[in-house]
Amino acid sequence: DKGNHRHFMEKEIHQQPEVISHTLANYLDFTTNRAKPLNLPFDFAKVDRLAIAACGTAFLAGSVGKYWFERIAKLPVDIDIASEFRYREMPLSMRSAALFVSQSGETADTLASLRYCRKAGLPIGAIVNVRESTIARESNVVLPTLAGPEIGVASTKAFTCQLSVLASLVVNAAKARGMVDDAGEEQLVRELAEAPRLASQVLKLAPQLEALGRELAHYKHVLYLGRDTSYPLAVEGALKLKEISYIHAEGYAAGELKHGPIALIDESMPVIVIAPHDRVFEKTVSNMQEVAARGGKIILITDKRGAEHATVETLQTIVLPDMPEIVAPIIYALPIQMLAYYTAVFMGTDVDQPRNLAKSVTVE
Ligand code: M6R
Repeated sequence: DKGNHRHFMEKEIHQQPEVISHTLANYLDFTTNRAKPLNLPFDFAKVDRLAIAACGTAFLAGSVGKYWFERIAKLPVDIDIASEFRYREMPLSMRSAALFVSQSGETADTLASLRYCRKAGLPIGAIVNVRESTIARESNVVLPTLAGPEIGVASTKAFTCQLSVLASLVVNAAKARGMVDDAGEEQLVRELAEAPRLASQVLKLAPQLEALGRELAHYKHVLYLGRDTSYPLAVEGALKLKEISYIHAEGYAAGELKHGPIALIDESMPVIVIAPHDRVFEKTVSNMQEVAARGGKIILITDKRGAEHATVETLQTIVLPDMPEIVAPIIYALPIQMLAYYTAVFMGTDVDQPRNLAKSVTVE
């Protein structure tokens, strides 16, 4: 049932404040502001690496997770696309743990990667949305996303719930590894608690994003740029757009611009820049200047501080509220989902069931 929404995707985008809140509350105790204890088959204090494998959007959630685990918990992460991981014969350290991320819990390559690690004797955790799935059954611990059924082929709420689980795990890992003290843990939990309210605020940007989607629909190519945790989000933005609008889109690390994609820049390829006012903001601004100098049209997704400090002319600036660094990837997912959605709706594509795609990819 779509309720009063035109598509499941729209409904699922709008459910995010609620499902993010449910998911976080499963892992974090908001009365004590502590991470709840987890019954893991390994000890975060004792592992020296985490191997994460997944496909598509779930891979991009894991990619954000890498930045968080390494920076906050000082735990090195190898993140792989499952179809590569399963064949690349990577030497696995016996002090590693493996984590698989999957909405459906049935993705063939992710499942094969899980079996590979199990055979090697690694402890296995699965972040899944479907509790009664093969990946859930075959892992040592299930870390559920409480997103509820996701019907739209383009993943939206499952992604932000995967990020919510990963962020919660990072708080646990940071604590176990002595990288945060009690006060640090409380602060991270309090910051994550703001995610549902921030997500609701961002949903109010729908009219602006709808108008922008109508404009975007006239282009054939779109480039997304971001640094740090906004880099996987840039790739996710491009994936969402191509998946449902069939517009060719690419997501790049902003610093890679000079290493190739800058050759493509002209007025016919808008550049969507995801740049909260964070530790790498100034670096991204210089990339935007390079784009502007070549006649590129910039759509900047930032916060109030970023909008004040971005010394570059943009076609449009989407201004999100200022927010703590750890919640930004969860919240910045929403405008890129909405932009892809409105573009596709305007173009009249089958948003919930895009051509050539299946909700769950159970064959290789
Ligand atoms: O069910 P899974 O999370 O394992 O699916 C992985 C990908 O197939 C999936 O995220 C796909 O990329 C989505 N259609 C993206 O919107």
